[in-house]
Amino acid sequence: MKTASISAFGGPEVVMLNTASPCQPAGDEALVRIEAASVNPLDLKIIAGYMQPVFPIALPYIPGTDFSGVVHSVGEHVKHLKPGDRVFGRSAPTAGGAFAQQLTIAATDLCVIPASMSFEQAAALPTAFGTAWQALFDVGQLAGGQRVLIHGAAGGVGSMAVQLAHMAGAYVIGTASARNIALLTSLGADEVIDYRNQDFTSLRDIDLVIDTIGGPTLESSWPTLGVGGRIATLVEFDIEPRDGHAGDAVFFASATPFLQKAVRGFSAGQLQVVTDAIFTLDEARAALEKVATGHACGKVIIRTAH
Ligand SMILES: NC(=O)c1ccc[n+]([C@@H]2O[C@H](COP(=O)([O-])OP(=O)(O)OC[C@H]3O[C@@H](n4cnc5c(N)ncnc54)[C@H](OP(=O)(O)O)[C@@H]3O)[C@@H](O)[C@H]2O)c1
Repeated sequence: MKTASISAFGGPEVVMLNTASPCQPAGDEALVRIEAASVNPLDLKIIAGYMQPVFPIALPYIPGTDFSGVVHSVGEHVKHLKPGDRVFGRSAPTAGGAFAQQLTIAATDLCVIPASMSFEQAAALPTAFGTAWQALFDVGQLAGGQRVLIHGAAGGVGSMAVQLAHMAGAYVIGTASARNIALLTSLGADEVIDYRNQDFTSLRDIDLVIDTIGGPTLESSWPTLGVGGRIATLVEFDIEPRDGHAGDAVFFASATPFLQKAVRGFSAGQLQVVTDAIFTLDEARAALEKVATGHACGKVIIRTAH
């Protein structure tokens, strides 16, 4: 099978097209013929070697965690899936494997997708949807009627967070470039601040800040909080409470508990998937370079041909 793999740490340029032996599913696994994968900033951090203390990988390594595809075969203990089922899921970062034509994964980590959901849409969801949900509701404790400020609202996680917060009845303020304002408004943002030309720091009485950017953006967010307000950051793991406000890091460990929720939101017509660009597996390096710009709008997809 064809893969896009690395045998050294570095930038997207270390990703090489390769071949690997076809996989066989163990007793509790499924072998998935991958149709699409999505790229996450985490993939770049892993191939750069930055994540070795947290998610140690062995080389050679096939990057990619989020994928969709068709079940090819299942191990003897798997009863809830069968060959031909359309599925999506997320492999552990230490395992990777999504930038390839096939992968094996524990069958319990897969979720069947409806016919109305394309493989590209499904592959976009696991990390972006799950992280947005975890940040808003598990860490952020967002409730209806509250004011939430979402930084990086046009990104993979941000575009999901805007929709989920809107569905929960929150007043949603996003930061993004001017070119993404109309999109975010259509996704449910009540206000969009063009962070390049407008100052979000004059905002007040924010109940929850979702920080996907860190650095000065995180630092400048504290004064926007109202009484009981909190920050949930995806990028600064040493955050501490300040001035009576909670500050918590989001550590997205597993997409599995969120997959059904994503399917339900999509099937109900409440959730759109924003796609920036679709590349082929042969173009995996270019797909990673696109995400490395830090300015992808929604998700970057890799479509796998067979
Ligand atoms: N802790 C965890 O478990 C966890 C989980 C998932 C993701 N993450 C991290 O969260 C971050 C975001 O992930 P992602 O997938 O959403 O990334 P992404 O899709 O690459 O985000 C790109 C977006 O960031 C926006 N952006 C860049 N600079 C900005 C700024 N100063 N202010 C506001 N928006 C800005 C861009 O908007 P414009 O193009 O409009 O400029 C673009 O739409 C990454 O660092 C990722 O590794 C962490």
